[in-house]
Amino acid sequence: MPLSRRAFFGLEVSASQPTAPLIIARGREALSEELGPLGSEIGVIQPPQDGEIRISSNENPLGPPPAAVEAIRGSFGRDAGRYPFNSQPNMSDLTRAMAEKHGCEPDNIVLGAGSGEILKNAAHAFTNRDRHFVTGTPSYLQPSRVARYLGATVVSIPVNRADGKLDLDAMEAAARGAGLIFLCNPNNPTSTVHTGSDVRAFARTVRRNSPNTVIHFDEAYHEYVTHPDYEPAMELALERPNVFVTRTFSKLFGMAGMRIGYGVGHRDTIATLRRYSLTVNTNVPGLAAGYAAVRERDFVRTEQRRNTEAKQYTIDFLARLGYESYNSQTNFIFVELGKPAADFRAGCREHGVAVGRDFPPMERTHARISIGTMDEMTRACAVFEEVLA
Ligand SMILES: Cc1ncc(COP(=O)(O)O)c(C=O)c1O
Repeated sequence: MPLSRRAFFGLEVSASQPTAPLIIARGREALSEELGPLGSEIGVIQPPQDGEIRISSNENPLGPPPAAVEAIRGSFGRDAGRYPFNSQPNMSDLTRAMAEKHGCEPDNIVLGAGSGEILKNAAHAFTNRDRHFVTGTPSYLQPSRVARYLGATVVSIPVNRADGKLDLDAMEAAARGAGLIFLCNPNNPTSTVHTGSDVRAFARTVRRNSPNTVIHFDEAYHEYVTHPDYEPAMELALERPNVFVTRTFSKLFGMAGMRIGYGVGHRDTIATLRRYSLTVNTNVPGLAAGYAAVRERDFVRTEQRRNTEAKQYTIDFLARLGYESYNSQTNFIFVELGKPAADFRAGCREHGVAVGRDFPPMERTHARISIGTMDEMTRACAVFEEVLA
C-alpha cells in the first residue's frame, strides 16, 4: 500500500506526540484534519490555556443541552460498567429514536463514533484503486485523506471563489465512474450552502450519468442553516440506494466530546456502511446524551439564534474593517483577508486567540473563524483589529 507523505507525517507525529502549543493552536478537529487518517489516533490533548479563546474547531462553545448533561450524569452512575448494547438507552434505542425523527426504519440508520467514523467507512466501502473519489476543495478533508490512503484517485474540484460554493457542474462531470462523491452541504470551510433544487438536480444528473456512484451528503452543520431555500437531502437518501446523508451531535448539539454521529440512507447502502463499523462504536454517556437531545426542540432554535447573532456581529465587525466573508450557514465564517491565514493565525495566537488552520488552495487569502460566545467574539474581534492593522 502506498504511504503518502502526509500519512507518513501523521505516523511520525503520532509516534512522537504533538507538542502542546501545536494542539492548543489548532484544536482537535483542526489537528485531525492536519494529520490525516492516522492523526485521529493521537490520544493526549492538552487543555486550553487559561483565558484562551478557542475558535478553531467549529464547536458549540456552550456544550450540550441541559437535559443531555443530566442524562450523561445519570447514565454514568447507572451504566458506566455496561457495554452500550446493555445500557439504558442502548445503541438500538438511539437508532430507533433517529429513525423516528427522520420518518424511516432502524434499517435506514447507522450510528458512528461521530459522523467522522461514517465518513471514513464510506471511503473504505465505496472507493478503491479503480473507483475514484470526488470532492470539492477546500472541503472537509477527512474522507479524501482516507480514500487517498486506500489508493483511490482523489479528484478535488475547486470551489467558486466568487461565492465560496462548491462547483456542482464540475463535480457532476468528474463523477462518471467514481466510487464516491462527497458533497459537504453546508461546506466546511467555506460555510456556504446549496439550495434544495440545486441538490436534487445534482443527484439526478449523477444518477443518470454514473448510476453506480454513491453520493454522500455531509450535513454536519444542518441545524445551523438559516437560508430559506436550503433543504436537507434526507428524502433523496431514503428513496433509493447510492445516496446517504450524515449528521452529527458534535456541532449544534454541542457534543463533540461525546462522539455520536449517524448516517441515513436506503437500507442497502446502510447495510454496506455497517459492515465497516466497529461492532461497538458508541459510548454509554454519548448515547444517553443523544437520546435526550433529540427531544430538545427549543434548544435547536435557541442555539441557532445565539450562533447567528454572534456570527453576524463578527461578520459585520470584519466588514467594517474591509474584510468580506462568504454567506455563512454554519457556526464558522470564511473571511477574505487578502493575506496568508498563517500570519493571521500567528498574530491571533500571540493574543490568546486560536483560529482555524490553513485551507489550501485558499490559505493565502482566506481564514476560517469559528463562532464562540458573544463575549468571546467581542474580545476576539478586538484582537482581529489589532492583528490586521
Ligand atoms: C463537515 C464535517 N463533517 C464531519 C465532521 C466530523 O464530525 P464528528 O466526527 O464530530 O461528527 C466535521 C467535523 O468538524 C465536519 O466539519
